[in-house]
Amino acid sequence: MFPTSTALAAALATMLVGTASAECTREGLLAAASSYVAAITAGSTANLKLAATNFTYMENNKAADIKKGVLSQPLKIDLNRSTADTVACASYTMIISSSGSKPYVLATQIRHPADGDTSTISVIDTIAATTGSLFFNPKKTLGYIQKEDWSTLAEGNRPSRELLKKVGDAYLDMWTDAKAADSIPWGTQCERVEGSQYTNPCGGQLPRGGSAKNNGMRRYVIDETVGSVDVLCSFDSLGSLPDSHEIRVEGGKVRYVHTVTV
Ligand SMILES: *[C@@H]1O[C@H](CO)[C@@H](O)[C@H](O)[C@H]1NC(C)=O
Ligand SMILES: *[C@@H]1O[C@H](CO)[C@@H](O)[C@H](O)[C@H]1NC(C)=O
Repeated sequence: MFPTSTALAAALATMLVGTASAECTREGLLAAASSYVAAITAGSTANLKLAATNFTYMENNKAADIKKGVLSQPLKIDLNRSTADTVACASYTMIISSSGSKPYVLATQIRHPADGDTSTISVIDTIAATTGSLFFNPKKTLGYIQKEDWSTLAEGNRPSRELLKKVGDAYLDMWTDAKAADSIPWGTQCERVEGSQYTNPCGGQLPRGGSAKNNGMRRYVIDETVGSVDVLCSFDSLGSLPDSHEIRVEGGKVRYVHTVTV
């Protein structure tokens, strides 16, 4: 009798939680991300399942017309990699297109309705670096990123969601909080790729406060399976720059940092 009522309570709790926010599937999130990669290749939004009402497109931290931005021309893709956040029902995709007349490095977050329907896209939020952006040299960036290992981490090697969020926040806080840099668990093997600027090891030459303005507008995509946190933000410490910071944590330590800054 007791197990039965417990099971009933659990089923009821699932239903109640389900109406507020259902977990999205990893497969669904990655399928939507892959539809975005295909749309970038085609230069067309025709095959994207955008929400009929209430769809939001953001480019470089501003609401924009999806047909007039990055998706208005086909791009040849050299590299794409996506992560999935089943709790936030969102994905993150990095795309490098180095060879066209308008080269790009894109950092894109895609969000879905809270009911867990990954076949509907409610938000596409992209930081689009191109010629003139900070340290922009997509061929160099490609060379560094291609060499990285982003394979799925073994269960015992995965950071928690809480740690990833903390590391992402601490990184962005380094410009305003003198103590933030030393709170980050730097790996001895750690590489930073900021635009096309390469730093190894990561833990040297870090900011230790000094700016009055905190980096704002933070949007997160966290994927424990590959140890990734991506934060899109307005880099207000240095002047409201549209920015993406992605960090990979392996075995509790920071392994890679990527920044895409416009
Ligand atoms: C529209 O989007 C806003 C912001 O994402 C959300 O709060 C609201 O619930 C959405 N409305 C509908 C009808 O989906
Ligand atoms: C995106 O990345 C996947 C996995 O590496 C690859 O199989 C696919 O061909 C890439 N897509 C494009 C358009 O380059």
